[in-house]
Amino acid sequence: MEGVCWVIMFKLSVAHIYQGVCYLVDNKLLEGTPHAVAEFLYKEEGLNKTAIGDFLGEREEKHLQILKAFVELHEFSDLNLVQALRQFLWSFRLPGEAQKIDRMMEAFATRYCECNADVFQSTDTCYILSFAIIMLNTSLHNPNVKDKTTQERFISMNRGINNGEDLPNELLTKLYDSIKSEPFKIPEDDGNDLTHTFFNPDREGWLLKLGGRVKTWKRRWFILTDNCLYYFEFTTDKEPRGIIPLENLCVKEIACPRKPYCLELYNPNSKGQKIKACKTDTDGRVVEGKHQSYMISASTAEERDDWIESIR
Ligand SMILES: *[C@@H]1O[C@H](CO)[C@@H](O)[C@H](O)[C@H]1NC(C)=O
Ligand SMILES: *[C@@H]1O[C@H](CO)[C@@H](O)[C@H](O)[C@H]1NC(C)=O
Repeated sequence: MEGVCWVIMFKLSVAHIYQGVCYLVDNKLLEGTPHAVAEFLYKEEGLNKTAIGDFLGEREEKHLQILKAFVELHEFSDLNLVQALRQFLWSFRLPGEAQKIDRMMEAFATRYCECNADVFQSTDTCYILSFAIIMLNTSLHNPNVKDKTTQERFISMNRGINNGEDLPNELLTKLYDSIKSEPFKIPEDDGNDLTHTFFNPDREGWLLKLGGRVKTWKRRWFILTDNCLYYFEFTTDKEPRGIIPLENLCVKEIACPRKPYCLELYNPNSKGQKIKACKTDTDGRVVEGKHQSYMISASTAEERDDWIESIR
């Protein structure tokens, strides 16, 4: 599948991560490699941290690769485990599902041991201790937990986890004190849903669109924003039916069969090839668009001219 499509698919699969779809396109990160997507999730501001956590925790191979690339963007050298966890847990929100948390902590532990080869005997040690620390955070800072874990108990709970050996008391004490003095902070869920992303569109309105394969006209709600054209079945839909990145496309007035006031979106450099775009099929799956060009009909000549001008 084309990179652009992959990126858009990713946008749709995590319903609330829309903003930035054009960021990737504009920056030519079109391959949609795990590294490129991970970097986008890590660096792009305004993404929904809950959705990032859900996305990274998915079990499919593609997600696992992105998770790995995402964790590798973190530099944990010379940080103690709590410092590293603070950094890691700041870049997304831990998902609720246990198996997802497990995959993410596994990836974290692997990365931590890569950066700090001589702290633990194995990745497992790091993994187990990371969980113990997250539980300690809840025990010490959640007001509903009455029986607070003491330093002695924390140390004895973690006996023998280093491949049968004990970790140095000094290390455990340091980690305990760090959590005690400051809980893990949860990053703001500053994600923008559609209402926000499309708060200030360049243009929006009803238009008729000619199908790519089946040549029928469908009424769609179009939104032009961030150099992308989105179309929806209803104005209240959360997810678009299709997304057309406008980069490399041209627009012109055209005479359509049976409909007045038409415009055409086409790629002047690759006549006869499909335009890079995506849509959801009837089952809700995301598929590549089938258009070599888009025929769109407005209800008046003035409306058509306004759209052409805005798209340009
Ligand atoms: C740490 O504890 C605080 C306070 O209870 C809580 O808000 C936060 O979610 C906890 N962090 C983690 C990673 O469990
Ligand atoms: C972030 O995403 C989650 C899950 O997709 C959603 O429940 C939440 O409302 C979103 N938050 C914002 C601010 O959009």
